[in-house]
Amino acid sequence: MRTIDTLGYPIVVSSGGLAEVARIVEERAPSHRYVIITDDNVASHYLDHVSASLIEGSGRGVTSDRVHTVVIPAGEEHKTRERWSAITDTLLAYGCGRDTAIIALGGGVIGDLAGFVAATYMRGIPVVQIPTTLLAMVDASVGGKTAVDTPAGKNTVGAFHPPAAVMIDPATLASLPARELRSGLAEVIKHGVIADRSVIDEVEAIMPALLAARALGAALEPMIERSVRIKADVVAADERELGLRKVLNFGHTIGHGVEAASDYVLLHGEAIAIGMVAEARLAENLGIATVGTAAAIEDAVTRAGLPSRAPDGMAADRVLALMRSDKKQRRGVLEYSLPKRMGEMAGESSGWAIAVDDSIALEVLRALANRE
Ligand code: NAD
Ligand code: GLY
Repeated sequence: MRTIDTLGYPIVVSSGGLAEVARIVEERAPSHRYVIITDDNVASHYLDHVSASLIEGSGRGVTSDRVHTVVIPAGEEHKTRERWSAITDTLLAYGCGRDTAIIALGGGVIGDLAGFVAATYMRGIPVVQIPTTLLAMVDASVGGKTAVDTPAGKNTVGAFHPPAAVMIDPATLASLPARELRSGLAEVIKHGVIADRSVIDEVEAIMPALLAARALGAALEPMIERSVRIKADVVAADERELGLRKVLNFGHTIGHGVEAASDYVLLHGEAIAIGMVAEARLAENLGIATVGTAAAIEDAVTRAGLPSRAPDGMAADRVLALMRSDKKQRRGVLEYSLPKRMGEMAGESSGWAIAVDDSIALEVLRALANRE
């Protein structure tokens, strides 16, 4: 078991940790009632286990009538204001008061949605994050960003609401489809690019075993811990994304445009992999990144089985238009978090975000679309 404590709440990485949910919940979010929010995929694997371990592991007599469950259909299309409203109404119908804690059991969709319910219910109640995808373990569950999507874009309505605790159980990855696992590796690679290139060597070393036999819980703990520590250090320095936290957006300005242009056929991590390669190329074209940075990132994402180029037929103009509807612009100019080299980001003097004219970005997007 490993615990990261730099953010004021514990982030526990423990294979088999689901059995310890009661301990962490009672220590960090002792409440009269608990509401486990999850999706139907995750529920089929882990809901009974988490619910039982909360009740049976309780030292304070948590009885089954004090544990409620809310199961929603899986998928990004359910991370909406309508779903937030329906879940909130369910909590009100249960008679949940301020002495209620939310347990978010699932991937980043559940973490963001359940976190936003917790951020707003009765002006804010505790949430314990139990991420079950690699992406949610190394990224979404850490740092307190919660949100829902709207027709105007992803994560356009949300709140900063740090969790009371995060319990990461890598053993839950055994049931995660391989494509989802790879998608999570994109964020691990991102952490390597922004802070410590040796993380990427670690990903490459563990890849064959990871994809061949995924009953690997404890073996994944070191990689997950290092990745979480990188994110936690950035968030500790700048929780509200006024400056340094923007480095975590590396790959996301173009990545979000590519994700939306694919009509969400690409998974988040797949689009971010493409976005990281493209933004590194942009950084090289601008003379910001050392030549070879983009090739090294392309090599890393390819070895992780992730795409590095946009799908055939994806038009550069459409990607740019969708990038413009995302949040990453200041005074109408799109901003990027760009690398200097593997393990080091540029842009300290400009608040870790670099404004780039659309005409320069378009050159890179056209090359991406043309597979040059
Ligand atoms: P997801 O939550 O949709 O999960 C992916 C799929 O895997 C779903 O079908 C889910 O039901 C299934 N699943 C989850 N755990 C499983 C398990 N252990 N076994 C079997 N199936 C399982 O997607 P995601 O990739 O985890 O998260 C993407 C979301 O995270 C996006 O909405 C993104 O905006 C958000 N995000 C948030 C932050 C943040 O800081 N808050 C950071 C990164 C991403
Ligand atoms: N995933 C980006 C952030 O948490 O800031």
